[in-house]
Amino acid sequence: MEISDKEIIKKIFENRAEVIEGHDPWRYGSDLAELTDKVETDWIMNNLPINSSRLMLDVGCGTGRHVLELASHKKSLTILGCDFIEKNIEFANSEKIRMGITNASFFCSSATDFAENSPVSKFDIITAIGLIQYLTTENELLEFTKNCAKLMDDEAVLLLKHPLSYNETFVLDYHREEMDTRYISSYYNMGDLMSVFDDYFELLSSDRTFTEKNMGDILQHIERDERAVQMWLLFSKKRKTV
Ligand SMILES: C[S@@+](CC[C@H](N)C(=O)[O-])C[C@H]1O[C@@H](n2cnc3c(N)ncnc32)[C@H](O)[C@@H]1O
Repeated sequence: MEISDKEIIKKIFENRAEVIEGHDPWRYGSDLAELTDKVETDWIMNNLPINSSRLMLDVGCGTGRHVLELASHKKSLTILGCDFIEKNIEFANSEKIRMGITNASFFCSSATDFAENSPVSKFDIITAIGLIQYLTTENELLEFTKNCAKLMDDEAVLLLKHPLSYNETFVLDYHREEMDTRYISSYYNMGDLMSVFDDYFELLSSDRTFTEKNMGDILQHIERDERAVQMWLLFSKKRKTV
């Protein structure tokens, strides 16, 4: 029987969680990861309505780096994180306790069924930071949008960070040397993304995640694939849908 991309991807992240002892510096190595995390968290704090919002969910939260950082800065905000790797959730929970954070919590769930596993039924903000490239089939992407829509209030927003393809959607499937692992990832273009998201969501804005202004010369080490660029994509929910 053929193994699905989802099973292969889960194995990649499971194996990764076995060898990582802290927040995973996966994308750019530990020095750059600290900087990119800060740029990302700053953008979220400056651009999302987190002051007035009470509840936020980060899907594919990994070891919870964004959740914990945001929760420690914005004490009025309650943030949940979910990921399908149990070990990531265990680590995030132990970090939360170590940091004395009381306004965050984590649960284990897949990006295609988190609505039924979420302990909270409505959120003001949902984020998915570097997640949807691992949802490599249209069905998984559609299930993700349905789960988000189900958990969002009418005024809520959905924020994705995604390496958006300039041309055709393309899939990477190769041995990634610096991480010593097989790597599968789908770089969607805007048209293909919207053909799935359009049922439930409207695009509010798009913005480059990393720029010369926030990265300086390091930008070339961050944006390494000429066919795609890391983007923030912000959506509102279409009212008629759920
Ligand atoms: C590149 S990491 C990003 C983690 C975190 N958002 C960050 O920016 O540091 C992708 C995360 O998505 C999770 N993930 C991938 N596919 C998933 C799925 N189908 N359901 C839930 N989590 C998934 C992985 O376990 C991993 O933690």
